[in-house]
Amino acid sequence: MKIEFAKRMQKIKASEIRELLKLTQQPDMISFAGGLPAPETFPVEDFRKVADTVLEREGRRALQYSPTDGDGQLREEIAKRMNATRGTHVTADEILITSGSQQGLDMSAMILLDEGDVVLCESPTYLGAIQAFVPYQPRFREIPTDDEGMILEELEKALEEEPRAKMIYVIPDFQNPSGRTWSLERRKGLVELSRRYQIPVLEDSPYGELRFAGQQVASVKSLDTEGLVVHLGTFSKIFCPGLRVAWLAASPELRRKYELVKQGIDLHTSTINQLEILEYIRRYDLDENIEVIRKLYGERRNAMLEAMDEFMPDGVKYTRPEGGMFLWVELPEGANARVVLERCIKEKVAFVPGDSFYPNGGHENTMRVNYSVSSSEQIRTGVERMARVIRAYLNESVAAG
Ligand SMILES: Cc1ncc(COP(=O)(O)O)c(C=O)c1O
Repeated sequence: MKIEFAKRMQKIKASEIRELLKLTQQPDMISFAGGLPAPETFPVEDFRKVADTVLEREGRRALQYSPTDGDGQLREEIAKRMNATRGTHVTADEILITSGSQQGLDMSAMILLDEGDVVLCESPTYLGAIQAFVPYQPRFREIPTDDEGMILEELEKALEEEPRAKMIYVIPDFQNPSGRTWSLERRKGLVELSRRYQIPVLEDSPYGELRFAGQQVASVKSLDTEGLVVHLGTFSKIFCPGLRVAWLAASPELRRKYELVKQGIDLHTSTINQLEILEYIRRYDLDENIEVIRKLYGERRNAMLEAMDEFMPDGVKYTRPEGGMFLWVELPEGANARVVLERCIKEKVAFVPGDSFYPNGGHENTMRVNYSVSSSEQIRTGVERMARVIRAYLNESVAAG
């Protein structure tokens, strides 16, 4: 077989880390490598009733094609929810239903990026966004971050230096992978820079409602006066990811572009899944469900931080997230988290090496650690094992000089 694939495929490769992480499927493995919501929070029984109702009441409509921009009533509910929980003032006409936020990322790249254009992103950033953008062959300029978000002086410098910058991509709430949340000041500064340079901001916020400590911060979209911010929201982390129903909120001009490309991609998001979510929201209290998730993740994050504080050797730094599903760990400079992972897998514990989250590479000393799917007991045991491996590894490195 001699097929000549598109040039873009040269950049799309299976990651070796995925191969390694396949080993984490073993039954006695404690895996902090995934990024899945806790399945025990999925309201399976209630959902069965909802699915029955939708099929009995409007089965034919539920199984038919439907509009590209999504069900109008669901868009109404989403706009209401966003305005109540994220401080925005959006209308249903600004909402477009997507097949996962992942599709929102793909479509954003499709409408904004030509080959060689520049994406300004946090350093580190979400691996799935890197994967969604790469086929459009952009260059990534990573903007250094600290505990409050992107360092705005660095962002401004990049905007000055990169005439081909076309999009600023950020995950301001409990970031995947770092767990960090942007301060209000930085959000305001970001909106101001996007206004000054007339560059759209893609605000990806799947974890925004999963806060279990600290104070809620206004969404970037709520600070936008120019229609330059596109907000991506999703039911994946506050309800069930398998439904693949999410949304974006954008100004009419931008939204129209998304609608046009979505038509060509998948015509529309699953009709029945949209109607089931709509029925669920109307019949049950989604906030109650979110409260259960928050409480569970809060307990698991506490268990993880307690174990980290107790077992991790000096010199290992980690974030203390106020929501979401991840903790970010930095080993001392020069350490290699991939070597640590190989050894950890032998000890039946796993995580994701952090270098995968830097589009331009480097940062081999970092790790992403997930706490949403393990019990508090597993977390304690897993962290103890991980800390033991790290301690031995660091001692060796010191001994080797
Ligand atoms: C930052 C971020 N954006 C987008 C997604 C994709 O979400 P969805 O399930 O809505 O496609 C994820 C999923 O983990 C994520 O962490």
